[in-house]
Amino acid sequence: MTVADNATNNYDNTINIINEINNRNIICSNNEVNNLGELNNNEDINNTILNSNNSLNHNNKMSINNGEINNKTNVNSSYELNNDTCTNNYITTIKEDNKINKYDVVLTGDRPTGCLHLGHYIGSLQNRVILQDQINDKKKCFVFIADVQGLSDNFATPEKVKKNVVEVCKDYISVGLDPTKSTIFIQSLIPELFELTVYYMNLITVSRLERCPTVKAELQTKSFSNSVPSGFLNYPVSQAADITAFKATAIPVGEDQKPVLEISNEIVNRFNNTYNTNILKECKAILSNVPRLVGIDGLAKASKSLGNAIMLCDDSDTIKKKVFSMYTDPNHINISDPGTVEGNVVFTYLDAFYDNKEEVEDLKKQYRKGGLGDVYLKDLLYKTLEEKLTPIREKRLSLNEDYIYSVLLEGSKEAREVAKQTLMEVREAIGIVY
Ligand code: TRP
Repeated sequence: MTVADNATNNYDNTINIINEINNRNIICSNNEVNNLGELNNNEDINNTILNSNNSLNHNNKMSINNGEINNKTNVNSSYELNNDTCTNNYITTIKEDNKINKYDVVLTGDRPTGCLHLGHYIGSLQNRVILQDQINDKKKCFVFIADVQGLSDNFATPEKVKKNVVEVCKDYISVGLDPTKSTIFIQSLIPELFELTVYYMNLITVSRLERCPTVKAELQTKSFSNSVPSGFLNYPVSQAADITAFKATAIPVGEDQKPVLEISNEIVNRFNNTYNTNILKECKAILSNVPRLVGIDGLAKASKSLGNAIMLCDDSDTIKKKVFSMYTDPNHINISDPGTVEGNVVFTYLDAFYDNKEEVEDLKKQYRKGGLGDVYLKDLLYKTLEEKLTPIREKRLSLNEDYIYSVLLEGSKEAREVAKQTLMEVREAIGIVY
């Protein structure tokens, strides 16, 4: 069976395919239940690494063998057709031993707390576009804006969350997410997610959530002090609902989200064991080869709130200012001085964004030896980023709010049908169908 066979626009067919996978992949649980009734999951979830070593030109052909998607040879015409219209060149690709499977359902989302930045782009957005094109079936590719999760730490400023739903969706479409290939939706328009959340809350302890490194790290940056809202603590559970509602198995996220996905898998296993079923599926993280992009200050991960990120919608002058204020090597005072590459943000960004990796290695050699100035490197980086961000910025300017809402409402309608079906199965498994 080829992707083209699967890509019939028929919902029932998708459900059949999903059922087929369900029947094949009986979940093997690595979890143990300790005497506190808590789940211990000692195994790291599979890390799928997207790696830039095998550079992929997006005009490559793709084939499917034994259920695996390869990016080598050409087989099906519908994929070729899409490639012919795809002008983007991406530097990342899926590592040979970490390929997605043709049965994979891809899902990911973002909290709408601000416009997206280069860290999102390199850590996740770029991969989503690749996956969307590879899967080429919007019933197996979901991208959503997690407004309800956004409220969990911004409940007092809902207007900010709402405004950013539109901004994030603009970012999505500007980087190449295509509403004809990905189902793009708003979390709060799928009420089934919140019913699932309630069922899942019974399957995980408060202390397990408190121990989640992602939640812990985030709490340190918030001003909740000792009064953590239960909604915030619970967000990994609601995330498990987001993932399982669509039977998603491949989740392109930043590295910091891995512990949250582990909790999701624990809930999946607990659910299946408790209700003697296999309807819920475990998921794996799809990580980028640059899972965590440092901020321009070199101190912390790039983030809008810290003001150390280059935003996808930044104009040319802002990008220039940010690049020229980047942390380099404070001891590299004269051009002739030998410089340090490690921890030098300009090199970190060149590694991430400059396509010619050999040239970057040569520049590093020169810099270490002495004789290469920061201004030269910053100018090179600025031009590199300008080249990448100009088409994104231009696309963004062409998008109006009415169009964005039409995409989101249509996507939400389609997504809701899938979530409804899963909720029905979940209620049946629990045994509360009346
Ligand atoms: N936690 C993600 C973020 O911080 C957003 C998110 C919500 C998500 N639900 C998800 C990501 C499900 C992947 C899968 O942006």
